Formats: sequence, C-alpha cells, structure tokens
Amino acid sequence: MDIRLTAEQMSAALQTSLKENIWQEEDTALIFYDLDFLKKRIAYIKGLFPAETLHAVAAKANPLPRVLQTLRPLGVGLEAATMSEAWLGQKCGYGADRIVYDSPAKTAEELRYALERGWHINADNFSELERIDHILKISPSQSAIGLRVNPRVGMGAIALTSVAGDYSKFGLPLDELGDEIIAAYGRYPWLNSIHVHVGSQGCGLEQLLNGTRKALDFAEKINKSVRRGEDAPAVRWFDMGGGMPAAYHPDEPRFTLEDYSAGLRRVCPELFEGRYRLITEFGRFVHANSGWTASKVEYVKSYGGKKTAVIHVGADLLMRRCYMPESWYHHLSVCDARGRLKTGRDKSPYTIAGPLCFNGDLIARDIELPPIEAGDFLLVHDTGAYTLSMWSRHTSRLIPAVWGYEEDSAFRLLKKRESLEDLYRFWR
Ligand SMILES: Cc1ncc(COP(=O)(O)O)c(C=O)c1O
Repeated sequence: MDIRLTAEQMSAALQTSLKENIWQEEDTALIFYDLDFLKKRIAYIKGLFPAETLHAVAAKANPLPRVLQTLRPLGVGLEAATMSEAWLGQKCGYGADRIVYDSPAKTAEELRYALERGWHINADNFSELERIDHILKISPSQSAIGLRVNPRVGMGAIALTSVAGDYSKFGLPLDELGDEIIAAYGRYPWLNSIHVHVGSQGCGLEQLLNGTRKALDFAEKINKSVRRGEDAPAVRWFDMGGGMPAAYHPDEPRFTLEDYSAGLRRVCPELFEGRYRLITEFGRFVHANSGWTASKVEYVKSYGGKKTAVIHVGADLLMRRCYMPESWYHHLSVCDARGRLKTGRDKSPYTIAGPLCFNGDLIARDIELPPIEAGDFLLVHDTGAYTLSMWSRHTSRLIPAVWGYEEDSAFRLLKKRESLEDLYRFWR
C-alpha cells in the first residue's frame, strides 16, 4: 500500500475543496483526512496479522468521534489511555469486547465501571491487581485482564516516547519482578492476559521484536508454571501494544509493516499459531499518513537574507514539532491561492512561523521551498496522528474545522470549526 499521500494528491483535494466551497470566510486553516487511505491502511494491517487479532486502535492518536465511527465497521477495536477515551469509544458504538482500557492511573470507581461493562483491562501494577481482586470478589466480570510488563530492551531514538528502558513509569520490569509477577498470575485466577508496549515512533524493528519476544518468553514461563481449570494455560491473550512507526520524511529509510509482521512470524511464531489471542494497539501508523493540514499564508516578511512566512497553525496543532524539532518532522508543500502545487525553489531560505505568541512557534526553519506569497496555501503533510489530539490552548486559538473526503463522495465535515462561544465554555 502507499506509504504516504503525495503533494499532488493533497493539491488535487485542496482544489476540489475550493471548488466545492468548503472554505468559509473565517477559515484560515483546515485539517483534512483521506478516509479511503485510512480504510486501506486498516485493511493492510488486518491482512498481515491472524484474522482473529483485535486491532485496538489507540484513541490518543485521533479521538474524533466521526473518525472512530468510520473505523468501527471495519472490525477494529479501540485502545483507551483514559476512562474518557474508553467512554468515547463506547459512545461511538464500540462493543465491550473491542475496548482495551490501559490507563496507568485507574481509580477504584473507574475499574468498577470497566469491569461491569466487560472491557479488556490492562493493569499497571500490583496495587491495581489487588484493587481489581477486591472488586471481583463482590461482583464477577466478563473482562479479560492483563498486566503490563516492561521488557527493558532499551530506549528508541525519541526518549520521551520510549517506555522499555531501565526506567519506565509504565508497568513492571519483568527481569526484576519476574517471580512476584508469576506469583500474581498464580494468585489471581482471573489474570489471563499480558501487555507490552515498547515505545512510539523512533523504535527500531529489532527493538520492537526483542520487546515482544521477551514478553512472550515470560508469558510462556507463566503458562508453564500456572495452569487453570482442565489444565488450560493462564495467559490466553497477548497484547503487543503499538509503536509501528509512520513515515514522515520522504527519504528516511524505514521498515514496513510487512517487515514487522515477517519479523514477528520469525521471532515469535507462537503468536501466529492460535495459542494466544493477539491484540495490537497501533495509533500513529493507522492515522498519521491519512491526515494533512492546509493553512493560508497570511504574510511573508523578508530580512537578513531569509524569509518568514506566517501561517495559521503552529505549536497549537503541531506541539511536538515546535517544542522538539530535532525529534519530529513534517514535510511541507506550497500551493497557490487556487490550490495548484507550486514548484521551483526560492533563493532565500524560509522559516515557517505559526500564530502563537512565543518565538519557538516555528514549524520549519531555514528550509528551501518554492516562492511563497501571501494568500498561498502551505500544506503540512502527515498530520493525522498526535496533532489535533494534542491541541494546545496557549493563546486561545480556535480549532480549525476538520473535513474527510473519499474518492467517490463529497467532502464530509468531521468536526466543526470551534466558535468563540466554544472557547468561552472551555475556559469558563
Ligand atoms: C500503551 C500504549 N499503546 C499504544 C500506543 C500507541 O502507540 P503508537 O501510536 O506509536 O502506535 C501507546 C502510545 O503512547 C501506548 O502508550
């Protein structure tokens, strides 16, 4: 499948959006989703894992209800990092058996709610297991329940999204606490799943495979020493987390999902033999490449041999890019006021500045681009994941409207442009 949308594809969609009068007077930027691309990506993922795998798509990557509703009929589930994300999933029609609830800070009340509904729950620590046991003694549940382990396979290229180093705030390290963890599986007859997540973006193939193998070795060890009912294994679910990286850079060498799936088949064949019910929690790889953002260029300034183009999205939408530009990248293209792709290279380097009130609000510094004029469109590629879902309220910017489109159907509003009244309600 295509890895990313091309600038030509985005420009064509932008031209259609202009012809169809999607842009209103107040719209300075719009966020777009190619829903065909998104659907194809799900089919691609499903094709590379056993048919009964539950692909619980990480809601934190993109929690828009209309996107969750687009994904649900495709047979995927939803991974929730918080009770509110799980609630969104429920509201969007995800069945209890499709919700994987992973919050590391679940309250007793939240656990009771989740157990009552029968969501898949991944506990983070021993105290949470005790809490669950206490609740289950009073009211039994259909929930499958796992424990998150840290396989300690080292950090990926981005420290803040790596969670399998020596220290991680998530889960329990299986090398250090292995005996206690196995004892917990012996003590709690309802503990029937295991959960591992190595990190997000920046993790190499070998690292992801090592982390999965270590957790799988551990599950096998538990199953050798803990048996249930008619000699059934204790661990029946294996949740391998997310972390499949998305492509942002046109020339960055990267591994594909075929490589990942083939690596898993080679290194962890047990996961493909039907002995475990597999769960994935991909977020970024599902969403990042189907989304893109078009902003009008408001001004272009020229001094010191450089040009600065001021646009209408910055650290509000692209928080990671602006605060940690060395770790996060978005490719940019330029279209004229009619949406036609501009080519060539201006001889002055461009800095692309957002609208927020601090000097780090830059989505690119000193890059080569075609000549930009006020009234053009700046296209920010691959904004489908961890962008809108991390929207920053700094300087009270209004969230742009979000539109989805499919090949044979018209543009569909996925989220209305925020109004000043919405903003007032937020701060009040
Ligand atoms: C437990 C867990 N699962 C899944 C994900 C999704 O990761 P990604 O979007 O990189 O696939 C995350 C990301 O933070 C996570 O913490």
